[in-house]
Amino acid sequence: KTCVLAYSGGLDTSVILGWLQDEGYDVHAVYVDLGQPCEDREATLTKARDCGAASARIVDVREELCRDFAIPVMQWQARYEGIYLLGTSVARPIISKACLQVAREVGADAFAHGATGKGNDQCRFQLAAEALDPDVKVIAPWRIEKFRNLFPGRTEMIAFCEQKNIPVKATTAKPYSSDENCLHISYEAGRLEELDVDGYEVVDFGMTVSPQEAPDKPEKVKIDFAAGVPVSVNGKKCTPLEAIEQLNEIGGRNGVGRIDIIENRFVGMKSRGVYEAPGMTVLYEAHRLIEQLTLDRDLTHLRDRLSIDVAEDVYYGFWYTAKMDALLAFNQQAQKVVNGTVELNLYKGNILVSSRTSPNSLYDAGIASMEGGGSYNQTDAEGFIRIQGLPSRVQGRVNPRPL
Ligand code: ARG
Ligand code: SIN
Repeated sequence: KTCVLAYSGGLDTSVILGWLQDEGYDVHAVYVDLGQPCEDREATLTKARDCGAASARIVDVREELCRDFAIPVMQWQARYEGIYLLGTSVARPIISKACLQVAREVGADAFAHGATGKGNDQCRFQLAAEALDPDVKVIAPWRIEKFRNLFPGRTEMIAFCEQKNIPVKATTAKPYSSDENCLHISYEAGRLEELDVDGYEVVDFGMTVSPQEAPDKPEKVKIDFAAGVPVSVNGKKCTPLEAIEQLNEIGGRNGVGRIDIIENRFVGMKSRGVYEAPGMTVLYEAHRLIEQLTLDRDLTHLRDRLSIDVAEDVYYGFWYTAKMDALLAFNQQAQKVVNGTVELNLYKGNILVSSRTSPNSLYDAGIASMEGGGSYNQTDAEGFIRIQGLPSRVQGRVNPRPL
């Protein structure tokens, strides 16, 4: 029996690596690099091999994650339940893809991951994996009672590692769990489960300072977009990953992009999450400002209605689906005109627009002006509104409203 394991180097996936071998599997460990902090990559791989992995490798998907997942979702202006920028959600399908590529290479027919049976991540890993390889066997040890009985807590997991000579880092246990990549950091569980605990006080944020610690004067940032893609920051050409990294720095030091929400998981329960996504928060805002200039009204409104579906599908894990393929194609067409430059002032958690320009701006001061003249004929408005009001006038005669 051969499987691949989405391996993070942490305690859970190290235990799973050992346990799968006890279950008779040859385990190929795949560390998918999404921009999460890793003190020592080589040490992580060595650790996997020391734990008996048949092979261990790093797959760097950071640029692909930004270019093919995060940027399209940003262009959709997709926010789950109106707020969450989906930083963990979009990163899951690409982990499945990277692992299945390795599975094909090494001849594995099973894919193991460390997500629990209570969360969203298991849905995303599995829905993506099954779409990419309908015959894949997904192993989620946390959903297996035997595994849960063996490891009811951290103590048993650490004991297991010691017995198997798996090195465990003496990490100071945080009072919550977090998930980090180049797009964001999420914090949930632990003390955050108590709603009277102030998330902004308890969390040790890694990407942002608090708005009150941010500088007392605004910082300007300039972003150029081509077809809805950020192509330079402060005049310097960059790839999507570089843009996000730079905006993480700039947004982060100005306290931009923290939220604390109660969200509805796909498996049904409400869950509390604290997030920081400085770069993506700046990008969503900057992109919207260019769209305001360049995107047709009815197209914008249609897109905004559909973006609720995009957010839902990304959150649930329906990335590799016919519906998402079609939505992404729609987006590609819609974004062709989203070209231009925005200048923003970042100030203590706020994003304030300073200027926006576009070579294909639809904004026409001559038409919009409140001053006299211009090409807009006010006389035309009379017939326009008379016809718009026809149904209401008929209704008003037949069913008079009390005045
Ligand atoms: N609630 C967020 C989401 O569903 C974050 C999940 C964090 N996952 C984790 N393994 N810590 O996207
Ligand atoms: C987990 O339960 O594995 C993490 C949280 C989530 O997936 O929502």
